[in-house]
Amino acid sequence: MAEKILRIENLSKSFEGTQVFNNISFVIEKGELSSIIGPNGAGKTTLFNLITGYHIPDQGRVIFKGQDIAGIQPHRIVRLGIARAFQRTNIFPKMTVLENVVAAVISRQRRNLNLVSPFRNNKAAEERAYEILENVELADMAHRQSGILAHGNQKRLDIAVALALDPELLLLDEPTAGMSPEERKHTVQLVKRLWETLHITMVFIEHDMDIVFGISQKVRVLCYRTILAEGTPAEISANEQVIEAYLGEEV
Ligand SMILES: Nc1ncnc2c1ncn2[C@@H]1O[C@H](COP(=O)(O)OP(=O)(O)OP(=O)(O)O)[C@@H](O)[C@H]1O
Ligand SMILES: [Mg+2]
Repeated sequence: MAEKILRIENLSKSFEGTQVFNNISFVIEKGELSSIIGPNGAGKTTLFNLITGYHIPDQGRVIFKGQDIAGIQPHRIVRLGIARAFQRTNIFPKMTVLENVVAAVISRQRRNLNLVSPFRNNKAAEERAYEILENVELADMAHRQSGILAHGNQKRLDIAVALALDPELLLLDEPTAGMSPEERKHTVQLVKRLWETLHITMVFIEHDMDIVFGISQKVRVLCYRTILAEGTPAEISANEQVIEAYLGEEV
């Protein structure tokens, strides 16, 4: 049986008395490429915030590789091996593309406090950063200022920064948000290729059903404060409850 990398157990979260979700549980297998879908405000980003330590659950556990990480500070969770790219990007706009990734590579290196780490010298960190930029097809923009990049390139840079943290589990919050249809297609192919080549467990939040059903091995639907359904794209697109509650005429 495949190894379980993440277990969400009976997780509940509310803000000021309004419950976002109630008692949700699911398991993510190591190496899986899966997605989370659900209407606006369903709690998708909140779920990522709970997994990465930005919020503390009211109840429940987030078990990453056997350890309950609920409530642990975000930078410690990064050290344990979870990184994320944000719905609204999280890059330093005044820094160049390369500098953004080098900073992440160096912060990753510090997490080991490993004195013989190859990244102690900046040249090695820069080489590693270039390698990552090649992976996300941004190497030719390495010396541009990040803040003036086109939106789609900023989203890819945010993924590069997350990859520089060398995660075992990578969470992508709407990696194609705000992109043109062409850019979307391109970014989806990129995400798929990263998953195939880097062998990281990946979870992405996405609204575009063509994308979701096109590349996910497993889809989880967050709706009505619960995981309404989970399954393969074929199972989800045929699920009566999901069609009624969420997909509607999209299918
Ligand atoms: N820090 C916060 N304080 C108060 N309420 C919050 C906070 N973060 C999220 N919420 C509320 O929790 C609910 C879920 O929000 P969340 O951002 O997780 O939804 P989402 O599924 O990611 O939506 P979208 O598809 O629009 O990104 C919303 O009603 C939102 O207003
Ligand atoms: Mg969101």
